[in-house]
Amino acid sequence: MTKALVVCYSRAGENYFAGALRRIEKGNTLTAAEWIAADLGADLYQIEQEVPYADDYNTCIQQAQQDQRRKARPRLKQPLPDLGLYTDIYLGTPNYWGTMPMAVFTFLESCSWQGKRIHPFCTHEGSGFGRILEDLKKACPGAEICPGLAVQGTQIPASKDKICRWAEQQ
Ligand SMILES: Cc1cc2nc3c(=O)[nH]c(=O)nc-3n(C[C@H](O)[C@H](O)[C@H](O)COP(=O)(O)O)c2cc1C
Repeated sequence: MTKALVVCYSRAGENYFAGALRRIEKGNTLTAAEWIAADLGADLYQIEQEVPYADDYNTCIQQAQQDQRRKARPRLKQPLPDLGLYTDIYLGTPNYWGTMPMAVFTFLESCSWQGKRIHPFCTHEGSGFGRILEDLKKACPGAEICPGLAVQGTQIPASKDKICRWAEQQ
């Protein structure tokens, strides 16, 4: 198998964990993405918005909801990776209001997916994948969407083995 690419969107700062607001240095999805990349010897690409959402949780959820309502496609900070180098793409995203953050849509709609295998993983606070898998299918014509893994953000620190096992079995 050729080298895989792990792509993820994630946000550090203030977030909601099991009923309380807490600051984290590294987002849940990035933590999982780094484990997968290290385990598989894969490359890692982070989807970052040119203008990030607020560090403050309550402002961030409003910004994200507003972007979703107006179907925004936020500009990305980094150039796109060369997907021609990869067949297997592990795509990690948080669940934002039932689907992916709009910057993930910017990324997906900017790439060509013909012949690619996407291995989706998501972190969430109770909704699992929500509409993510349907939306992924629509945004990535030509890709095979492989069985995904959804992990509650609160459970991430205890889920390294489960996440790596899933990645290896793809
Ligand atoms: C803007 C925003 C919207 C969210 N919407 C949902 C949601 O609809 N359902 C859910 O289960 N969790 C939701 N969450 C919780 C995140 O999915 C969860 O905290 C995730 O692990 C964050 O990933 P990250 O730390 O990699 O950014 C939301 C969080 C944010 C910041």
